[in-house]
Amino acid sequence: MSGAELVSGVSRFVVRPGRRIGGDAVVPGDKSISHRALLLGAIADGSTEINGFLASDDCRATLTALRAMGATVDEQAPDRLRVSGLGMNGLQSPPGPLDLGNSGTAMRLLIGLMAGQDFPTELTGDESLRRRPMERVAEPLREMGAAVETTDGNPPVRIKGNMKLSGIEYRLPVASAQVKSAVLLAGLYAQGQTRVIEPAVTRDHTERMLPAFGVPVSGNERTAVIDGPARLTGTHIDVPGDLSSAAFLLGAAFLSEHDPVTIDQVGINPTRTGILAVLGLMGAEIRTENHTAMGNEPVASLIGLPSALTGVTIPPELVPLAIDEFPLIFALAACANGETVVTGATELRHKESDRITVMIQALTELGIDAEEFADGARIAGGQPGGGTVDSHGDHRVAMALAIAGMMATAPVTILNVDNVATSFPGFVPTMQNLGLDLQYEPGPGK
Ligand code: S3P
Repeated sequence: MSGAELVSGVSRFVVRPGRRIGGDAVVPGDKSISHRALLLGAIADGSTEINGFLASDDCRATLTALRAMGATVDEQAPDRLRVSGLGMNGLQSPPGPLDLGNSGTAMRLLIGLMAGQDFPTELTGDESLRRRPMERVAEPLREMGAAVETTDGNPPVRIKGNMKLSGIEYRLPVASAQVKSAVLLAGLYAQGQTRVIEPAVTRDHTERMLPAFGVPVSGNERTAVIDGPARLTGTHIDVPGDLSSAAFLLGAAFLSEHDPVTIDQVGINPTRTGILAVLGLMGAEIRTENHTAMGNEPVASLIGLPSALTGVTIPPELVPLAIDEFPLIFALAACANGETVVTGATELRHKESDRITVMIQALTELGIDAEEFADGARIAGGQPGGGTVDSHGDHRVAMALAIAGMMATAPVTILNVDNVATSFPGFVPTMQNLGLDLQYEPGPGK
C-alpha cells in the first residue's frame, strides 16, 4: 500500500528532520529481566522486591496473568514491586484464558511455567502474537512429559497441567532465549536434570537470575543445566536500563550534528551487546563508563557521539546477540554511507511483525534502495525522503523509523505506533528532551 492510500484514524508519530540532538537520559528497565523477576518471584518462597521494573504493556501482561493465578503483587511505585511468592505449587487455576497481549516473552515463558502446574491453562494474545510460532516451545515440553496443544502451531495454546515432568537434554533447533527459558522453567518442576544446548549464544538472563533465587545453574557458554525439582527463595532484583531501548537514543546520537547523548545504568550483558559490536563496525563512536553490576548483570553508562556511519556486511554470528535491534540497524543503514548486508536473520520474520518485510517496505517507501532476502536484506545507504509509512503495530519498527526521520528530506509520518508502550513507555518525551522533533497523535478513542 502506498503512503497516500494509507488509512487515516490510527495513532501516528510525525517526525520533522533535524540533527540537533544531545543530552543526558535514562531508559526504563530491561524487559527480559522484568518478566523473569516477576515469574520467578511468584513461585519463590517469601517475597521478592523488584526495583527498576519495566512498567510496560508487555511486562504488565505477565503481572496480570500472575495475579489471575492468585499472586499478590504490591505496586509500591510503577517501577518498584513486591511479589509475595506462593512457592512452587501455590499458583491457582485462573478464571479464564490468560491474555498476554503483544508479548512473545510472556507467552513462551509462561507456557514453560504452566507445564509444571497441576491445573490446565489456556494462553492467548493479540493479533500479532496469535501469528507467532509456539511449536518450538511445545515440542521440548512434550518431550518432558507435558501436554501442550497449539492452534496450528500458534496461540491459543492449551496446557493440560497435572503431568509428571522429567528432565531432558534438549538441543535447540533455533537460537531462542525464550525457548531456552521455557524449558528451564519447566525443568524447575521436573524430576532429574534438564540440560539445554543452544546452536548460538542467546541472552542468559534466566541463568543469571536463578542463582539469586537459590537455584544453581551449571553448564558453559551454550549449555545450561539445572536439577529439578527445585525450590526458590525470594530475593531482591535491581533491573538495569534496557539496552534495546537505549539503542534508539544511541542511534539518534550518531546521526546528530550536535552533542553526545549519555544514558546511565544500562545493562551491558555480553549476550545482548551484539548491537554495540554492529554499531562499532558501522563506525559509530560509543564510550562506556561507570562500569558496575546489578545483581549478576553488568551495567554501565553509555555515551553515543555524532558519528559518520558506513554500511557493513554484518557477521551472522552477531545476529542472535543483536536480535531485537535490527529495525534500528536497518534504519541507520538507510542513513549510512554505502551498502549494508544482513544474512542469517530469518528469525526476524517471527517477531512482533515480519521485521524484514516491514522494514524494507517502509524504507523503500521513503525512497531508499533496499531489497529483502529470505534470511536478511540489502540496504543502500542514502538520505530518506519524507512520506507516510506503517509500523504494522511493531514497537521497535515504529521507534526505528522515528530515528530515520531525523535524516529525511521532509517530515515522516509513522502509523500504528501505540505498541511502543509494550517496551518503551516514555519514548516520546525522552526523545523530545534530547531534541528530536517528534509528535505523537493518538488514534480515535485514545
Ligand atoms: C527475549 C528473547 C528474544 C527477544 C525478545 C525477548 C527474552 O526472543 O527477541 O524480545 O526475553 O527471552 P527469541 O529468544 O525468541 O529470539
